[in-house]
Parts: sequence; C-alpha cells; structure tokens
Amino acid sequence: MRERLRALIPGAAHTYAKGDDQWPEFDAPVISHGDGAEVVDVDGNRYIEFGSGLRSVTLGHTFWPVIEAVEKSLRQGTNFVRPAAIELEAAEAFLQAVPTMDMVKFAKNGSDADSGAVRLARAITGRDLVAICVDHPFFSVDDWFMGSTTLDAGIPASTRAMTLKFRYNDVGTLEQLFAEFPDQIAAVVMEVEKVEPPQPGFLESVRRACDQHGALLVFDEIVTGFRWSTAGAHSLHGVVPDLSTWGKGMANGFSVAALAGKREYMERGGLDHAKERIFLLSYTNAAETPTLAAAIATMGFYAENPVIETLAKQGDRLAAGLRTVAKARGVEDQFTVFGRGCGLLYGTKDQDGNPSQPFRTLFLQETVKRGLLAPSLFDNYSHTDELVDRTIEIVDEALVVYARALEDGWEEHVVGRPVAPVMRRFNRA
Ligand SMILES: Cc1ncc(COP(=O)(O)O)c(C=O)c1O
Repeated sequence: MRERLRALIPGAAHTYAKGDDQWPEFDAPVISHGDGAEVVDVDGNRYIEFGSGLRSVTLGHTFWPVIEAVEKSLRQGTNFVRPAAIELEAAEAFLQAVPTMDMVKFAKNGSDADSGAVRLARAITGRDLVAICVDHPFFSVDDWFMGSTTLDAGIPASTRAMTLKFRYNDVGTLEQLFAEFPDQIAAVVMEVEKVEPPQPGFLESVRRACDQHGALLVFDEIVTGFRWSTAGAHSLHGVVPDLSTWGKGMANGFSVAALAGKREYMERGGLDHAKERIFLLSYTNAAETPTLAAAIATMGFYAENPVIETLAKQGDRLAAGLRTVAKARGVEDQFTVFGRGCGLLYGTKDQDGNPSQPFRTLFLQETVKRGLLAPSLFDNYSHTDELVDRTIEIVDEALVVYARALEDGWEEHVVGRPVAPVMRRFNRA
C-alpha cells in the first residue's frame, strides 16, 4: 500500500507532514482505523498514537459524543442553498467559548483562515506587506506564507518580497521592520506561544507596536486554541489580537477552521457597510453541516468536562516519566522533552549534541516497532494513565538502542534512509 500511495499521490499522502519521508523507510504503517488514543494499521498492528490528526484530534478517535452529533446531522442533509440554523448555533458556541472575539467565519483549513486574515488586513490598511514570526514554522499553504520558506518553488518573487520576518520574544526585530517599512505593514502574524512562553511584556509590546504603526495583530491559535485553553493561548496572557485563526481542536479532527476578530474589522467582510466590499472566506463546503455538528459537540464537551486540565496533566506525567527514563539510560542530553504538557515535543541529538534527523529516525523506528506512533507528544483526552505508562515503557526500551547507537554510530542501527524535514528544497541532498 505504501508503494501504491507513492505511485498515485504526490508526497504519498494528502498532507506532507504525514508523508513517507517523515518516517523510517520500512516502518511507516498505513492506518486502518482509530479508537481513543490508539490506531490499528492495515496489518492489524495496534499503536498508541500521539499528535493524532496532526494535532486536531483532541478528544480521541471515534469519540462518541461527537460521532452521535455527526450521525444525527447526516440524516438531515449536508449542504443547502441558504444558511442552515446550525451555522448560527456553531457561531454562537464558538463565540461563547472565545469571548474575546466578536464575529466569526468558518472555513475548512487553518491555511484558509490565516490567508483570510491577511487579505482582510491588507484591504483594511491599504498596505501590502506582512510580518510573520520566523520562529513559528507554519501558517498557510498559500503563497504569502510558502514564499517565505525554502519550499518556495512556483511562487513569484514579487509575492515572496511581501512577507517579512521578526523573532519571537524580540520586539526589537519587529520595531526594526516598522522603521524600515513605514506605513507598509498590514499585519503581524504569529502564534501566541510555541515552545518557550512569552517573556513578560513581550506580547503587550507587540500589541503596542501594531497599534502605534497601524498594523493589525493576528494571533494564530490553530494549534493552541482548544489546547492551551479553550479560549486560546491569548486568553492566558490577557493580550487580545485584532484577528485570530482557529482550526485544530475545534471539531475533534473534523474539518472546521475559523477566522474570528473584532467587529470593526470582521464586518468589512459583511453586508452592512458602505465601504469597498472585501471577499472574506467563502467556500462551497465551509458550512457543511455534519462538521459544524462535530464542532458544536466538541465545544460542548469542552465546556462540561476537564479537557484542558486533562491534556495538561497527562502531558506533564508523560514528560516527567520520559525525562526519568532518558536519565536512567544516560541519554538525557540527547533525547529531550520540552513544551507545555498539552503541547509536548521532543528533540533528538547526536553524540556531539547537534540536532539529528538520523537519531530521530532511530527513535521513530524503535518506537514504531514497539507499538507507538509519536512524531510529537501532543496528547488527547483519551490518553489514559495506562497508555501514558505504556508509552514511557516503550520509550525506555527504545532509548536502550538510542544509547547504544550513540556509541556505535546511528548507521549501525537505522534501517534505510533517515527522515528529512518537510521544508527542504530538494528531496535528496
Ligand atoms: C500554527 C498553524 N497555523 C496554520 C496551519 C495550517 O492549518 P491547515 O493545515 O488546517 O491548513 C497549521 C498546520 O499545521 C499550523 O500548525
């Protein structure tokens, strides 16, 4: 099946982050189905899974309150010529969950929401440039963002020149852009938090710089929304953006994303003003009703259950357990676990302390073999104590091999070619 996927689908998957090059050459399973925090591959092997649905499955696979809502909605038709009542219900549920925002428009992908925010900011300010935080790896599949990466083939130089970069926790680099390009920057786009938390005053100073220079502040809450907090990471820090984008976590893996924002900006995409019209997010399937039913059920479950607390608690348990076994195996400097409990990541380094894709490959190879799929350590509400404990055991066993490879060299242990980052210019160096 892997060969057929490669033959029929460029990248061997419909999302690059799931592609063959992200996994060891001979150990990448094809999934048959999922159940809670586990999946079963087409050969019948069962795995504990982290980062499910590229971090969008925050409650668990086949999560019944969501499935039931979707099933019910399916029986009532999926797409009409006028808005369905569920579109209002979903908007109300979202704005109740995220009280800092006044209006919301749904889409299918986070990329669309971010691109919508950029279009809106450009139209409102009459400016072309966008400043993005370079320490945040991904915002959109669209040209305004991809043109700023190494994977910029097919994107005109004129578009590439429109996206500028500043550093996280370094407002000076943003101030520098505002000074260099006065009255030209339409939007500042960033995540509130990735791995390191914002230094005291950083987010506030970004907010101030945007206000002072007339740019719209866009917080991308696509990963952090419904994970750091239901109301997004910005609500934890008390800094409110002009626009915000949402996606993963909103509908437990169903395809719903959102652009939300202050009324004065969002309503420019609406019908009740006399200014120039702005075409703001409009898709045939944007309001497909079963996915909105999934979003309402997911947001409803968050409102009534300790999802956020559980994601943080289980992630913290996992982090503590992994750090203990890494230390016990003498690889605590090479296999590191970092980030918030609800958004845990790991790093793999070689014997000289340099980040290493071959050692990542070895880690994936040895964990896949033992029944764990962990491209990241992002948990979901279905990761029970038992699954977390089993994950720690599996990693412990994998780290025995890791420790050996630090002495023998990874070439002795990795079967096939190493994995490679998605953002690279050529397939092979
Ligand atoms: C922070 C962030 N923003 C935007 C996106 C784009 O979302 P989508 O893949 O739904 O288009 C992603 C996807 O990984 C993301 O992580």
